[in-house]
Order: sequence, then C-alpha cells, then structure tokens
Amino acid sequence: MKILVTGGAGFIGSNFIHYMLEHHPDYDIINLDKLTYAGNLENLRDIGPGKRYRFERGDIADADLVRGIMDQGIDAVINFAAESHVDRSILEPASFIKANILGTHVLLDTARERRISRFVQISTDEVYGSLGATGRFTEETCLRPNSPYSASKASADMIALAYHRTFGMPVLITRTSNNYGPYQFPEKLLPLAITNLMEDRSVPIYGDGLNVRDWIFVMDNAEAIDMVLHKGEDGEIYNIGAGHESTNISLVSSVLGIMGKPSSLIAYVKDRPGHDRRYAIDPSKIMTALGWSPRTTLRDGLKMTVDWYTKNVGWWKRVRSGEYLEYYEKNYSAKGLKTDSR
Ligand code: NAD
Ligand code: DAU
Repeated sequence: MKILVTGGAGFIGSNFIHYMLEHHPDYDIINLDKLTYAGNLENLRDIGPGKRYRFERGDIADADLVRGIMDQGIDAVINFAAESHVDRSILEPASFIKANILGTHVLLDTARERRISRFVQISTDEVYGSLGATGRFTEETCLRPNSPYSASKASADMIALAYHRTFGMPVLITRTSNNYGPYQFPEKLLPLAITNLMEDRSVPIYGDGLNVRDWIFVMDNAEAIDMVLHKGEDGEIYNIGAGHESTNISLVSSVLGIMGKPSSLIAYVKDRPGHDRRYAIDPSKIMTALGWSPRTTLRDGLKMTVDWYTKNVGWWKRVRSGEYLEYYEKNYSAKGLKTDSR
C-alpha cells in the first residue's frame, strides 16, 4: 500500500509514521508537510535507511503539488495537516481557515479526481463543543464548535462527509480526544508543564483549573487510526478516546508528583476566551465495530512522556529557541532535497 500522510512532521503525524513503519514495513509512505512552526523533521530523524519513506515539503492547499503527488499511485490519504492550537486560533483565525478548511478541500477534490481508494480525515472531539458535568460525546452528538480552531475542523468534517454522500468518495473521519506523548510541541498543556517544570519555572493554569479533558496516549491513537484505515466503513465517523478524564489541575498535579516538584510552581492565570468546560469521548463504536481498545493507562502514559522529555532535552530546547527550524535547511534544503531514506 502507498499512503500519503499529510502533516507528518507534527506531533501525531510523526508518531503515526513511526507506528506505520514498524507495523507495515512493506508500505510506502510519502509525508507532505509545509513545515510550519509546528512541523519538525527532527521528529523523524531516526527513520533508518531502507525504510520506504519519503518527505515532500509543501502546502496541502497547493493543488498542483497535491495532484503531482497523488499521480504517484497513492492508495490512501491520511490528513493530519492542520493548524492545531486553540490559543493561536483566537489570536489569528485566518491561517486556520486556510489550512484546515481550504487545504482539506484541495486534498478531497484531488483525491476524488484521482479516484483514491481511502481518505481518512483526522478530526477532533472539539467539534462537539463543551459538555456539562455529565454525558459523553458520541458520533451522533450535534456539532457545536466554539473556537476558530474547532469551527475550522468541523467545517472540514462537513465538507468531507458531503464528498462521501454526494460523490460516493471513500471518506472516513476520526475524532480524537487530547493526545499526549513524545514530540508534542511545548505550547500544549502537558509538554509546556513538563518542560517548564524541568527548568523550575511555573505552569500557567487557565481560569479555575477545573476544565476537564479526556487524555489518550498518542500511540494508542495511532493504532486506532491504522484500524480505521484498514477496517473502517466508508462514510463513517469514529470517536477515539481512552476514558481518562481529568481536570487540568489534577493532571498537572500528577505531573508535579512524577517529577517531584512543589505545587508552588502552579500559577493561575487569566482564562482562555470561550474556554470549553469539559470533553469526554464515548469510544464504544470503534471498540465494538473494529475491536480497538486503548493500551496505555494515564499514569503509565504520563510517566513515559515525562521520561521522554527528560531524555530529549536537546529536542525541546531546540524547539523552544526556534533552532529546530534550521534543521531542514541544514540537512535537506541546502543538500539538494535529499529527503528519501531509501
Ligand atoms: P501539530 O500542530 O503538531 O502538527 C501539524 C502539522 O501539520 C505540522 O507538521 C505542520 O507543519 C503541518 N501543516 C500545517 N499546515 C499545513 C499545510 N497547509 N500543509 C501541509 N502541512 C501543514 O498538530 P497535531 O497535534 O499533531 O495534530 C494533528 C492533527 O490531529 C490535526 O488535524 C489536529 O486537528 C488533530 N487532532 C489533534 C489532537 C491533539 O491532541 N493534538 C487531538 C485530536 C485531533
Ligand atoms: O481535544 C482535542 C484537542 O486537544 C485537539 O483538537 C487540539 O489540536 C489540541 O491542541 C488540544 O486542544 P486543547 O485546547 O484541549 O489543548 P491545550 O493543551 O491547549 O489545553 C488543554 C487544557 O489546558 C485546556 O483546558 C486549556 C488548558 N491550558 C492550556 C495551556 C496551553 C492551561 O490551563 N494552561 C496552558 O498554558
């Protein structure tokens, strides 16, 4: 199988590529990524020679480029590429509209034109909006996105489903809760907390710290996406979550405990505008229909994640300083785009 992974230099995409190369060594993977501030080729530097993997730098909204890649005999597209940070979407919504809506549309249109036989759109539980104290999101829950980010993801979902219903395109959608694990950009709560604590800096907690998120270890999500790709039904949506709900304050307190840091390093700060109160995923459908279940407990996942950031200080220091952005120029661009590991 030859698959096009978009956004594969980001957090979930790079973990997914590692997962696929390990579990499907005979697959060809092309990674199309624009390398925005969130894309980092260092996440993939340990892909050894002989792997059937190739990197292509570019924008999913560039129709000519996407057409050229899809003409290389692609069987399936997995679209991770997106602007992904809610706080940035509040400061600058336009880039979210362009990448998440227009970019997805270009991919869908080209995949339709080229009769690609599988299109997996990676979406989020945030499209469902916010829950009260009880209940969980099912695939039937109405979409009520509240941030420019979640509204852009909901729009992409709608367009993808319309392409299935109108044109019979083989589209599938995954909606996942908050992922955590290696290679996550330290603007998101967990890597921000871990890396700040490693330098004895405070962790900013928005509002009262009682907002609830439902946490899943990134490799469990990668396995679920692999199952959706191979066993999912066209036109279906699959919620993916591990059932690990936690308030932000309780999550950060667990990290403080694992790292042996004092609670005086918690700093309550101004709340995020439109801050969704609670997310909780009901993953019954993917568990029953595809036989998926999460493998990693929140406690083990947090320990593995703290351990990874502890052992990879160079990685996050380069990310924080912006130095990682030079990695592409030094290792690829200047050397004439030597991006194929074969
Ligand atoms: P990320 O920000 O770490 O990575 C996004 C990647 O997409 C980066 O490598 C970036 O360079 C690339 N990209 C952005 N715009 C692009 C464009 N126009 N063309 C090509 N590449 C582009 O994001 P992530 O956390 O890995 O999220 C990946 C996907 O999963 C996103 O679609 C996001 O909405 C979704 N998602 C994320 C989470 C989470 O907890 N992180 C949960 C549910 C769903
Ligand atoms: O639910 C899935 C979504 O999870 C994905 O679709 C998004 O791409 C991903 O960024 C994430 O969105 P969140 O807004 O939930 O993640 P973030 O890490 O930004 O925030 C998690 C919670 O922690 C949220 O309630 C806001 C809060 N927070 C966040 C930051 C960055 C803080 O209290 N302090 C912070 O400094």
